[in-house]
Amino acid sequence: MRILVVGSGGREHALCWAIAASPVCETLYCAPGNAGIAQEAQCLDIKADDIDALVAFAEKEGIDLVVVGPEAPLVAGLADRLKAAGIRVFGPSAAAAALEGSKRFAKDLCAKYDIPTAAFGTFTDADAAKAYIRERGAPIVVKADGLAAGKGVTVATTVEEACAAVDQAMVDGAFGAAGATLVVEEFMEGEELSFFALVDGANALPLASAQDHKAAHDGDKGPNTGGMGAYSPAPVCTPALEQRIIDDILTPTVRSMAAEGTPYQGVLFIGLMVTTDGPKVVEYNVRFGDPECQVLMMRLKSDLLPALVATADGVLSAADLRWYDDETALTVVLAAEGYPGTYEKNTVISGIERAEEDPEVTVFHAGTARDADGTLRATGGRVLNVTARGRSVTEAQAAAYRAVDAIDWPQGYCRRDIGWRAVTRESGGA
Ligand code: AMP
Ligand code: GLY
Repeated sequence: MRILVVGSGGREHALCWAIAASPVCETLYCAPGNAGIAQEAQCLDIKADDIDALVAFAEKEGIDLVVVGPEAPLVAGLADRLKAAGIRVFGPSAAAAALEGSKRFAKDLCAKYDIPTAAFGTFTDADAAKAYIRERGAPIVVKADGLAAGKGVTVATTVEEACAAVDQAMVDGAFGAAGATLVVEEFMEGEELSFFALVDGANALPLASAQDHKAAHDGDKGPNTGGMGAYSPAPVCTPALEQRIIDDILTPTVRSMAAEGTPYQGVLFIGLMVTTDGPKVVEYNVRFGDPECQVLMMRLKSDLLPALVATADGVLSAADLRWYDDETALTVVLAAEGYPGTYEKNTVISGIERAEEDPEVTVFHAGTARDADGTLRATGGRVLNVTARGRSVTEAQAAAYRAVDAIDWPQGYCRRDIGWRAVTRESGGA
């Protein structure tokens, strides 16, 4: 098969790495890719949001499957355009991608179909939103309805902070059109958990659980990032909890999307809060998590590609995925010093081959480019995902940090405590 992967991050490197290993894959392209992806795929000078150019390339090159990594092109209708051109695509239609593209759509779906989530109100008027906040009290959560590059959510500890978030979105227009509608919701207490499933429109194939660390610094402190590390499976996700997530959330979500006339096809990433009342939806994403995808791909034993095709063709019940069930995978993000704020670009990285001498380690590239002479340079905020497998989170963590220490990149930094909660659990701690 001829495959095109869309995107340029660590998630897409992991997808290309898994797809390139498939005996069914003849030719693999990635648009636009990065220096790590170039080891697996032919990188194209087409941006992930250039829908016209992506469709034209897929048509011209007779692509058999397009796998879309990021959410923005899906929300913008890339899957619809590809389908209209007769090209098979892994990823939801724009109407179904509203699960991530509109918090209001997601919350209304949950309310209509009794899918557990935080109590909420939806507002297009700042005064009405503030009146609701005053009535409910703090802590309370204010969310921009649309895509806001991960910055549209304020978990407010006071009523004043929540009202300021309303003004930021609605008066200052900090998120543009994405903040013209706000969802204000109850604060949920508990442990966060991510759950992934393939969905073919009617059927779901549960993949795995994962947890990530969004804060930039150790101890889950500092500014929020796209994710500084992750591990899978999440020890908090017991078989009983997983069954509850499937029965109470995954299955009803898939059924309700079909009932609404917007069947979901692709990977569904459910962000959950494990509360004393059971698991509740924090958010839906219409893509693999980044860096969660990297740990999922490391745990996958069987060929990913037939499962992606079965998802796209609506015959997922025939798919069969096998996992390294008794192993954990953990990834540590190496980021440029200063990220998520301003940081230097084009600094030189070396030592990746040394880091990968351990057969249980793979280094995925999230933001790199290579000079003509082979010099590897950092081009983004999150730059490398040092990923390791082990028989426990503790073992995988130790292997990942050994590999991190083999990499020479003075302008980079990472958290030193990825997986701490699970490691504490494994050592019999609280
Ligand atoms: P979201 O973009 O909706 O995932 O929100 C970003 C982050 O804000 C989540 O990962 C949670 O840590 C936090 N968050 C969102 N909604 C809530 C909520 N209702 N209660 C507590 N924390 C929340
Ligand atoms: N790591 C969180 C995300 O991909 O949204």
